[in-house]
Amino acid sequence: MILSPSMLSSDFANMENELKALEKAGLEWVHLDIMDGVFVPNITFGPPIIKAMRQKSNLFFDCHLMIKDPGRYITDFANAGADLICVHAEACDHLERVCSQIAETGKKPAVALNPHTPLETIKYLLPQLHMVLIMSVNPGFGGQKFIPFCLDKVKELKKMIVDAGADTLIQIDGGVTAENAGELTAAGVDVLVSGSAFFGYPPYAERLKTFQEACK
Ligand code: DX5
Ligand code: ZN
Repeated sequence: MILSPSMLSSDFANMENELKALEKAGLEWVHLDIMDGVFVPNITFGPPIIKAMRQKSNLFFDCHLMIKDPGRYITDFANAGADLICVHAEACDHLERVCSQIAETGKKPAVALNPHTPLETIKYLLPQLHMVLIMSVNPGFGGQKFIPFCLDKVKELKKMIVDAGADTLIQIDGGVTAENAGELTAAGVDVLVSGSAFFGYPPYAERLKTFQEACK
């Protein structure tokens, strides 16, 4: 199990220390939520901030782009220091093109699906995807409640990946807690994103341990 804490719930005025604290606590990934106020009703940050964070951290930057037509900005995010670039299927007219664009930059391509978006959308792309992100809330804000049908979606996706003989990772994002983490990893989730249920309960090393115990 990989835990990718969502910086959306961190102290934005203190990002350098937050990143260092994560690294010190033994985390390897960090989830960066990029929102444009168009694809989702909220605005966060973009490549310049990621570039600044990159100077201060060696964590794996798991970049979740909640922006319309993300193909316009792939090079910017790659140059800023993203390790994985995850785009929303709903935000791309030519999803395969955007995934290839990400791979061409040398970064890991991933696709996110909103709760209502069918898995069929990414069926043919699986072999070229490092990860599929199942959104378990409607994207835009931290602290929302997990939508229960997303657990079935994870199980179906796991089966699709096995049937395709692919090694695509499954990530889940939204309403993930230490209480539902075990059920999610048992269903096939490889990467748990957690914002409010992680940053709200320091110290981070202890919190990581709680999540790890829950997934045993
Ligand atoms: C929501 C973001 C999430 C968010 C999760 O649109 O994609 O990454 O930070 O926050 P929690 O874990 O609080 O639901
Ligand atoms: Zn996210």
